Amino acid sequence: MVAVASHRHQEGARMYQKRPGVFMADWWDADGRRHRKQFTNAASAREHEHRETALAHAERATREMKLAARTGATKRSPAKTDTGTVQPAKGKLGVMIPGMGAVATTFVAGVEAIRKGLAMPIGSLTQMGTVRLGKRTDGRSPKVKEFVPLAGLDDLVFTGWDIFEDNMFEAASNAGVLDYRLLEQLKPFLSSITPRAAVFDHNYVKKIDGPNVKKGKTKMDLAEQLRDDIREFKKSSGASRLITMWCGSTESYIEPTEAHQSLKSFEKALRENDEMIAPSMIYAYASLMEGVPFANGAPNLTVDLPVMLDLSRKNEAPICGKDFKTGQTLMKTVLAPAFKARLLGLSGWYSTNILGNRDGEVLDDPGSFKTKEESKLGVLEHILQPGLYPELYGNMFHKVRINYYPPRGDNKEGWDNIDIFGWLGYPMQIKVDFLCRDSILAAPIVLDLVLFLDLAQRCSELRGLGIQEWLSFYFKSPMTVPGLYPEHDLFIQLMKLKNTLRHLKGEELITHLGLEYYD
Ligand SMILES: NC(=O)c1ccc[n+]([C@@H]2O[C@H](COP(=O)([O-])OP(=O)(O)OC[C@H]3O[C@@H](n4cnc5c(N)ncnc54)[C@H](O)[C@@H]3O)[C@@H](O)[C@H]2O)c1
Repeated sequence: MVAVASHRHQEGARMYQKRPGVFMADWWDADGRRHRKQFTNAASAREHEHRETALAHAERATREMKLAARTGATKRSPAKTDTGTVQPAKGKLGVMIPGMGAVATTFVAGVEAIRKGLAMPIGSLTQMGTVRLGKRTDGRSPKVKEFVPLAGLDDLVFTGWDIFEDNMFEAASNAGVLDYRLLEQLKPFLSSITPRAAVFDHNYVKKIDGPNVKKGKTKMDLAEQLRDDIREFKKSSGASRLITMWCGSTESYIEPTEAHQSLKSFEKALRENDEMIAPSMIYAYASLMEGVPFANGAPNLTVDLPVMLDLSRKNEAPICGKDFKTGQTLMKTVLAPAFKARLLGLSGWYSTNILGNRDGEVLDDPGSFKTKEESKLGVLEHILQPGLYPELYGNMFHKVRINYYPPRGDNKEGWDNIDIFGWLGYPMQIKVDFLCRDSILAAPIVLDLVLFLDLAQRCSELRGLGIQEWLSFYFKSPMTVPGLYPEHDLFIQLMKLKNTLRHLKGEELITHLGLEYYD
């Protein structure tokens, strides 16, 4: 019997391959009875298993609610201890970063500065955030990192790939984000991280080119070389677990094609050098094949493809993306929910940015900009739901511009002009001028994603799910399973994240109902 995936859900569902062409799905219903069904392919068996698991969850939840209503009890999450559900974070965690540019170096230098006690992890939920447990009167608000077992900063080890040969000290100095005096104190450590040769093709990122690039006859050869790199890093660093975090440039816009639908077609496309396979997809494939979780900080499709979702589930390597939610979109996903909450209309939202770092230069190319534009534009439609509120949002004009302006370096300026209307249709305007630092906002996101993705892989309930939607909080364009629209509202995303942590630990979910205080 060959185990394809052992998705141990709460009810203990399981899918496995009995022999070639015969896949079995086992599941336990809400009464604890075991069922078994045979399928001819893995996808149908997995789909069946997920559906039955969801049904069992729903049936049990309904019963609990009925029971609670009868006995007058408050609904609690199913009684569960954390032991056996989340494995402890033992040993080193290896962080592998394709793209050792501004974001990657600000993150790695920041971790080292924090480890040395030179700075604080400001902006990081895993390091500074708390999670309220129980009632407001209980006074229980542990730090996130004390509540769930996360890897410690001292256990992080790093490697990366880049098309340029600069080590992390040189790359951080060139990026110009961090003060030279701080970088000098971190020099021996940062200089020791040198880039591995990248899988790169100028056709996907038109504005840059570099010498440190792998050679191979086919894209499959390149994938094999990346897999060798991953195995070598695991061995040489002594890491017990690995994570890949895409911090590479934004690639040209690509629509999913037949090549991205299944492992078979993707591997065929790799062997045939199909142009629909961008370099970032080759990193994603190599990581997932090695059972390594993958997060995508750029708006490229990369892991947002059926083949990657299948691979992620099969190899229990969680995935998430796309595009770090840092400056302007962070503000958008705070303001737009406020307008909708108060039923204020929106006639137009004009967003423009100037930035002068390499990311800005790459985005000056129309192909890369289109990828970014798609990611930034989706936000308002999803939050404001013009289909549900045609009078308020049916006619809004949304425009996003990014302009490369070298004098600003990494210090971006994002302007928003927002035209809203209120009672009786009277117009009003809001102007936002955010003078931010792109990589300073992105670095804590990278840290949290590394630690949470590693947590997900150590957690029996999350590791076989594929997409980790509870991490939408960190993304401009959050990935979801097909057919589900993403949640963009920052505070819904935060509630989802914290409730996921509470759920994993068998704590009561927080609904903010609060009637019990007035009984
Ligand atoms: N900083 C932010 O606020 C923010 C927010 C959202 C998304 N992002 C995205 O994060 C990514 C990194 O941003 P950045 O400011 O660090 O950019 P950057 O240009 O400083 O760094 C990107 C690095 O990736 C390298 N690279 C490109 N293709 C590669 C490949 N195939 N393999 C290995 N290396 C490759 C480049 O040589 C460069 O060093 C970009 O895609 C950007 O759009 C950044």
